[in-house]
Amino acid sequence: MSIPTRVKLVDVGPRDGLQNEKQPVPAAIKIELVHRLQDAGLTEIEVTSFVSPKWVPQMADAASVMAGLQRKAGVRYSVLTPNLQGFEAALKSNPDEIVVFGAASEAFSQKNINCSIAESIERFAPVVQAARAAGIYVRGAMSCTVGCPYEGEIAPERVSYLAGLMKGIGVQHVGVADTIGVGTPLKVQRAMEATLKHYDINDVSGHFHDTYGQALANTLICLQMGVWQFDTSVAGLGGCPYAKGATGNVASEDVVYLLHGMGIETGIDLDKLVDAGKFISDFLERKPNSRAATALLNKRVA
Ligand code: HMG
Ligand code: MG
Repeated sequence: MSIPTRVKLVDVGPRDGLQNEKQPVPAAIKIELVHRLQDAGLTEIEVTSFVSPKWVPQMADAASVMAGLQRKAGVRYSVLTPNLQGFEAALKSNPDEIVVFGAASEAFSQKNINCSIAESIERFAPVVQAARAAGIYVRGAMSCTVGCPYEGEIAPERVSYLAGLMKGIGVQHVGVADTIGVGTPLKVQRAMEATLKHYDINDVSGHFHDTYGQALANTLICLQMGVWQFDTSVAGLGGCPYAKGATGNVASEDVVYLLHGMGIETGIDLDKLVDAGKFISDFLERKPNSRAATALLNKRVA
């Protein structure tokens, strides 16, 4: 398999990135972040989650954020929907894509969405059916595909099992997530291969948190397998409230730098992306968690 010549990045910063922030981020700031990402050339943005506000208070403004967007032609806006209640709320804000999210680990499924893997699939099935009937694309996120904060290492067979269940209910695309960023390339390759038993290479993506600094290496091995879709988070924002200690997704800026350096097209303007990351980092009163952004910002000052 040859390395792809073009890669699609889904910036999950507004959702995965901000969901873990303790201080409330006003809807206007979230909206501005999405606008800056689309101006930087992102063609898919994971905007928010229609989840219980008791579970994830930061996402309580999902409907306002979606309502405030000035949508740009050619950009797809996705949202997380864990159940029919979330889907029905999401439907009113016209997402292009919805994301059901399950886990390869039983313990993480319980902690994150309060049900077993089997129960989660039962909950997702009517959501998938309703979304597809409404012409909305359905992506599935598969958490803990290499490691789980509660169960430790996860075997590829667990990933294959979940991918098969997702396929069985009509999920069109699945993301292979290293939720806690413990994966290293060969383990990630095995999780991806387990997924590819059920999904075509064009219907899978990588979603790598960078807790141990392995996400770029994990991205590279997936590129070598022919995977051309990845979730990344501007300024490396984020983490999951149910995976304590795990840091954000790999920074979009770092992945764009890697891809452009390899001659792979993304359609993204790295300078504008760095500006978007600086914008949200300034609001959060911290530096962007991206080596490439730091280097480029230092170069500007010099
Ligand atoms: P539950 O308590 O089992 O749900 O939560 P329930 O159906 O029994 O309902 C309990 C209450 O929640 C009721 O309210 C419902 O109305 C409400 P009450 O009567 O007590 O006032 N409720 C909702 N409210 C708003 N929107 C909804 C909704 N559903 C029920 N959709 C539930 C189950 C799934 C809702 C809950 O566990 C939840 O919200 N979990 C969200 C967890 C989450 O957002 N985690 C982070 C995202 S996943 C992630 O980050 C991983 C990913 O990035 C990939 C990776 O890195 O691994 C995607
Ligand atoms: Mg995540």
